[in-house]
Amino acid sequence: MRVLTGLVLASLAIPGLASDSPLDRHNEIMSNETLRQQAYNAGKERILFCGYCHGADGNSKRDYIPNLAAQNPVYLFNAFRKFGTGERSDYVMSSLAKILSEEDKVNIAIYYSGQEVISEPPDSPALYSQGETVYSNACRQCHGKEGKGQAELPRLAGQPTEYIRNTLRLFRDKDPARQSEIMTAVAANLSDDDIRAVAEYVRSMDSN
Ligand code: HEC
Ligand code: HEC
Repeated sequence: MRVLTGLVLASLAIPGLASDSPLDRHNEIMSNETLRQQAYNAGKERILFCGYCHGADGNSKRDYIPNLAAQNPVYLFNAFRKFGTGERSDYVMSSLAKILSEEDKVNIAIYYSGQEVISEPPDSPALYSQGETVYSNACRQCHGKEGKGQAELPRLAGQPTEYIRNTLRLFRDKDPARQSEIMTAVAANLSDDDIRAVAEYVRSMDSN
């Protein structure tokens, strides 16, 4: 019994207390300018392949691919973890998450989170203002007034419309490829019109 309790406690303790978690390592590097510069340069080399899809500066090359520029590092680590465990799946990303080392993930997060998002003006000002209403009623409380999110809450500002629409539909359909209890509950209340409008708004929020 005592052994069992010990095992349970040990397994509970690992995620929170590990001193070498990616976040701890990230924070340690960011507090030292020399280490930060080294990590940034290593990240820049490591993302040569990622750049074909996400852009060398983190502004994605295709409307269905997310920007990584200015994304919150904690969210990036969570995304890698979810692709690794299968809580999230995508043909390319799920294999990449298994190949990248912890050090690669930290360096990549430092590189991409340090880039600026290039935001685009709305195609339809009417849709944009409809989206602004949806956003302030249903999204702002978590993703923030400027759409920057924080920590595990992702930045949305500047994300391509098709990516936002597809992602919200995956949440709404409870698709196993994209699991999040919070977002599944939020998306359950969105109509197709709300999704189109909020995607238009989010893409054009400017918050560098
Ligand atoms: C062939 C195109 C492709 C390549 C190459 C690629 N990605 Fe991705 N990546 C995607 C797509 C598509 C998604 C969205 C998947 C989904 O819908 O869940 C994604 C999602 C992500 C996410 C989650 C972002 C978010 O906003 O949730 C991260 C982080 C990421 N990629 C990092 C990388 C890194 C780092 C590399 C290089 C080691 C890389 N990707 C290479 C296509 C690619
Ligand atoms: C109660 C807090 C909360 C609210 C309200 C909320 N979100 Fe989220 N959102 C989250 C969290 C947490 C995640 C990260 C989920 C994950 O890890 O995949 C997320 C993820 C997302 C993503 C995926 C981002 C990416 O880069 O892949 C999109 C898109 C999104 N939210 C859009 C919205 C929109 C649009 C609204 C309003 C209609 C909204 N959210 C309201 C907490 C919230």
